[in-house]
Amino acid sequence: MKDENIDFRERWKERSRQMFDSSEGKKAFENVFDNETKKALLKLGDRKVLDRLYGTIESGKESAVFLADTSEGERVIVKIYMTQAGSFREMEKYLRGDQRFRNFKSDRRSVINEWCKKEFKNLKKAANVVRCPEPKAFQKNILVMEFIGEEFSPYPKLKDVEIENPEEAFQKIKRNIKELWQEEKMVHGDLSEYNILMTEEQEVWIDFSQGVHKSHPEAVELLKRDVKNMASFFNRQGADIDEQEAVQQVLDALEDL
Ligand SMILES: Nc1ncnc2c1ncn2[C@@H]1O[C@H](COP(=O)(O)OP(=O)(O)OP(=O)(O)O)[C@@H](O)[C@H]1O
Ligand SMILES: [Mg+2]
Repeated sequence: MKDENIDFRERWKERSRQMFDSSEGKKAFENVFDNETKKALLKLGDRKVLDRLYGTIESGKESAVFLADTSEGERVIVKIYMTQAGSFREMEKYLRGDQRFRNFKSDRRSVINEWCKKEFKNLKKAANVVRCPEPKAFQKNILVMEFIGEEFSPYPKLKDVEIENPEEAFQKIKRNIKELWQEEKMVHGDLSEYNILMTEEQEVWIDFSQGVHKSHPEAVELLKRDVKNMASFFNRQGADIDEQEAVQQVLDALEDL
């Protein structure tokens, strides 16, 4: 056991120097993440998924988002869940309500790894209906996905762009919410102007970690909230949408609630 740790420390010292583009980036990573996360990062290097890590784009309570390049030189996003996240008990409860995720242990690390896997799986499913980042790989608490942006800049969030026709934009999103439920049996669960990025051509939905299967006890409430949040956002942009009616229209269109 002891030898293994010495081995790991040596390997980390050597590999991390190659992987991080700056010593500040490496230090920032080491300040936040534990050895298990470092091991997972090395593994992604061994798997030839990751080659180089740049700085963080955003970091919050539950995760930090880094830019990186794959071994093939493709720019990607690396979302790393904090293993010390305080809310892991809530995550666990939420996960266990989803029929897809019931076989995991209850310790903090297992819950967070499962949470990461859930975002990976949600992205895979959602891609059949909406434009979203293509998930590339996951390893423990680390998720690697397609970068929605150019060079080092992510595309802007919906909240930061000018919207020509907010009513039409809402109708499209409402249709996608319905299709996601009907075709992929899931709900995003945290849809907002913060979790939609805008390329020049279209909107791209991100942040699928809260997405659940439609049989989840909270699925219908989340569906209603997604519709309501989006209607309320587009109303603030000048649309004239009856929020209750919009929610009702979605519910009426779904026969299997
Ligand atoms: N695939 C991506 N391409 C470009 N930028 C991204 C991508 N994924 C995330 N980002 C950027 O990182 C930010 C945070 O990501 P995300 O919304 O997934 O995490 P979060 O809101 O911190 O998540 P969580 O609610 O899961 O803790 C986004 O608002 C966006 O600016
Ligand atoms: Mg987000």
